[in-house]
Amino acid sequence: MITTSGLTKVYRSRGREVTALDGVDLHVREGEVYGVIGQSGAGKSSLIRCVNLLEKPTAGTVTVAGQDLTALAGRGPRAGRELRQARSRIGMVFQHFNLLSSRTVQDNVELPLEILGTSGKDRSRKALELLDLVGLSDKAKAYPAQLSGGQKQRVGIARALAGDPKVLLSDEATSALDPETTRSILQLLRDLNRQLGLTVLLITHEMDVVKSICDSAALMENGRIVESGTVSELLATPGSELATALFPVGGEATGDDRTVIDVTFHGEAATQPVISQLSRTYNIDISILGAAIDTVGGLQVGRMRIELPGRYEDNVVPIGFLREQGLQIDVVGASDQEPLLVKDGAK
Ligand SMILES: Nc1ncnc2c1ncn2[C@@H]1O[C@H](COP(=O)(O)OP(=O)(O)OP(=O)(O)O)[C@@H](O)[C@H]1O
Ligand SMILES: [Mg+2]
Repeated sequence: MITTSGLTKVYRSRGREVTALDGVDLHVREGEVYGVIGQSGAGKSSLIRCVNLLEKPTAGTVTVAGQDLTALAGRGPRAGRELRQARSRIGMVFQHFNLLSSRTVQDNVELPLEILGTSGKDRSRKALELLDLVGLSDKAKAYPAQLSGGQKQRVGIARALAGDPKVLLSDEATSALDPETTRSILQLLRDLNRQLGLTVLLITHEMDVVKSICDSAALMENGRIVESGTVSELLATPGSELATALFPVGGEATGDDRTVIDVTFHGEAATQPVISQLSRTYNIDISILGAAIDTVGGLQVGRMRIELPGRYEDNVVPIGFLREQGLQIDVVGASDQEPLLVKDGAK
C-alpha cells in the first residue's frame, strides 16, 4: 500500500547539509498497522513528511495505493491537481493536533472537505458521521480549548478521515497524552484499521505503542531502516534488537547445575502445551523464569525463559524435542558449550 524506494532527504540550510533519510526502502502492506520506531533525530518525521510529499524527497520514490507520488510532484498544473487528489486520500494525524482554535470541532473536521469543494450539506453530514465514529458526537459545537488532549486528538483523527483516506499517517499522535489516554487513542486507531480496512503508518519513539497495536515494525537509526518485518519475522530473526525490546525476558539460573534456555515462538506452536508435554515426557520439573507473550491474530508470539534441571549436556534430548516442535531455542550463557556438544553428537 505504501512503498518507498531509495528514499533520500537532504536538508540544506546556511551551507550545511543534513542527511535525514539515507536510502529508505519501506513496504507497508494493505490493511496493516506499521510502526516506525527510532530515537530523536533518526529521521522519522522526515520519513512521514516525505511519504505524503509535504516534504519533497531529494531522491527516491514514494508509491501510495499504486500511484507514484514522486512522479507527480512539480510536473505542471495537471500533475499538481492529481497530487492534491492523491494527498487527500492520505490522512495525517499530528502530535500537537493542529486544530484551528477559532473553529468549532465540527468546522475543524469540515475543513479538508471545504478544500475539496464538498457542498455544505454533505460536509456537515460527513463531519457528524466522523465525530460519531471517534466517539465525540456531543462535542460538535464545542471549541478545541474546551476539550481534553485525548478529545482533541479524536478531532484530529476525524479530520484526517474526512477525505475517505485509504492510508492514515500518524506522527507521534500519542506523545502529548497521558498513558491511559494513549491507550484509548491507540485502541481507536486499531478499531479504525479493522472497521475501515485503513492502512496505518505510525511513527513513535515508544516501544509500548509498537507493542500494543502494530502488525509490523521498523527500527530507524541515522536516516536508515536497520531492521524491519512483521512481529513474527522479527522474533524469528536471531539477535533482532526490536524483538528483544518488544519481548524482553530476564531471569538467571538458580544454580550451577541448571540450564537456562529462551524459547521463542511465533505462532507455529503454542508454548504452554509444549512445555507441559516436555515436562511429562522427560519427567522433569521446569521453572519459568520470565516470559513476554502476546496473542496476535489468535496466535501466541513471544519469548519465555525457562530453567531445566541439570547441565547443558543433560538436556540435549529435551532441547532437541523443543526444536522438533518448531520452537526457536537459544541456550542462555552457553554459547561456547553448544558447538562442542553438537560436535560430540556427530561422533
Ligand atoms: N527542516 C529541516 N531543516 C534542516 N534540518 C532538518 C529539518 N527537519 C529535520 N532536520 C534534521 O533532520 C534530522 C532528522 O529529523 P527528524 O525530524 O526527521 O527526526 P525524528 O526522528 O522525527 O526526531 P524526533 O523523534 O525528535 O521527532 C535531524 O538531524 C534534524 O535536525
Ligand atoms: Mg519527529
